[in-house]
Amino acid sequence: MRVALGVTGGIAAYKSAELLRLLEERGLEVQVVMTAAAREFVSPLTFAALSGRKVITGLFGPSAGDANLESAIEHIAVAQSIDALVIAPATADVVAKIAHGLADDFLTTLVLATRVPIVVAPAMNVNMWENAATRDNLEVLRRRGIRIVEPEEGYLACGMTGAGRLASLESILDAVCGVLGMADDLNGETVLVTAGPTEEPIDPVRYLSNRSSGKMGYAIAEAGRRRGARVILVSGPTRLDPPAVTLLPVRTAEEMAAAVFENLKDASIVIMSAAVADFRPVRVESGKIKRNEGSRTLQLEPTEDILAGVSRRRAPGQLVVGFAAETDRLLENARAKLIAKQLDLVVANDVTAEGAGFDVDTNIVTFVFPDGRTIPLERMSKFDVAGRLLDEIAALRKNRVAVHSA
Ligand code: CTP
Repeated sequence: MRVALGVTGGIAAYKSAELLRLLEERGLEVQVVMTAAAREFVSPLTFAALSGRKVITGLFGPSAGDANLESAIEHIAVAQSIDALVIAPATADVVAKIAHGLADDFLTTLVLATRVPIVVAPAMNVNMWENAATRDNLEVLRRRGIRIVEPEEGYLACGMTGAGRLASLESILDAVCGVLGMADDLNGETVLVTAGPTEEPIDPVRYLSNRSSGKMGYAIAEAGRRRGARVILVSGPTRLDPPAVTLLPVRTAEEMAAAVFENLKDASIVIMSAAVADFRPVRVESGKIKRNEGSRTLQLEPTEDILAGVSRRRAPGQLVVGFAAETDRLLENARAKLIAKQLDLVVANDVTAEGAGFDVDTNIVTFVFPDGRTIPLERMSKFDVAGRLLDEIAALRKNRVAVHSA
């Protein structure tokens, strides 16, 4: 796989040389792109020697007047040949340019021209980091699905102490591997995922169900597997090819509840993305209901709330994530579910929005956390939503393990 490493003008630019080496150690081919300011800090020669390939420094060839067609369209060629773009260090300036869609050099042009996942690792002075303009710009990047690797606190080159120091190279590397589906940050975890609809029989040929396709849950299961987790997928009826995980097919809410509760003790992470039927017919007719029997009323009773049951039975340290499929008052309803079921995270999903919800390949979701934090994401593929969700879960898991071992 091929990654473009964008280096911008900050003191931390020297650390990018080591990042380049770490990316290569992971078997990635790296194309370095430097801004003019970055070249004031580190010579392109360093990166050229380490990567064994030419460093791209400008839009139109190495110096003015060298422009030819090849160099003029190189940003498109690079954009199409890479699997991910990482910018480390990213200055406040480049973050602002990306937020506003500016494209006045090779790197920012590449950002606009590429469709691959982007990882941005900012590094700057603490005041610049805390400035409202920078915060807003980063929020825009996050919403667009760009993965931000937050800087650390510490001693800064300007002599001040605070947040703004480039994140550890290890966490930048994790984020790059994460967007490439190569991370193994869930190694050792067992993830129990529910997916799809349930079917509640009325008679031998009819049932009550809903429009869920199972795509979101299957994407989570596959993304979890790729990140090293053992995955148990409890799935209602779907038409999807199952991922290479432990698959427990079920039909009704009752069967789903039984499969979930049976496997709960093995799970360190539970993600309930299934659209479980909330009601089922009180009586299941043993023979097909005949039309000539005339009009009839179907009496329904509530099914068990599986997620609430999980929450009641959860073991210490177990992480529980729910989904909230809503048609109105999205965040309010999602927060209510988060509190009522004592969840660690709710994925709020407005199922009426175009490009979101049932039977489409994309989704528009907002992550809602117990501390009131929300992360709204723009429309993206369900696989990318799954990746972002697992990023958050891996981070929560890390904190929890740290708290428990402290
Ligand atoms: N859920 C569940 N068991 C049910 C119904 C829902 O485990 N019988 C889970 C879903 O998998 C999801 C979460 O609960 O993670 C929220 O589901 P949703 O249908 O949005 O909400 P409900 O709790 O059913 O509430 P309401 O129908 O009133 O919105």
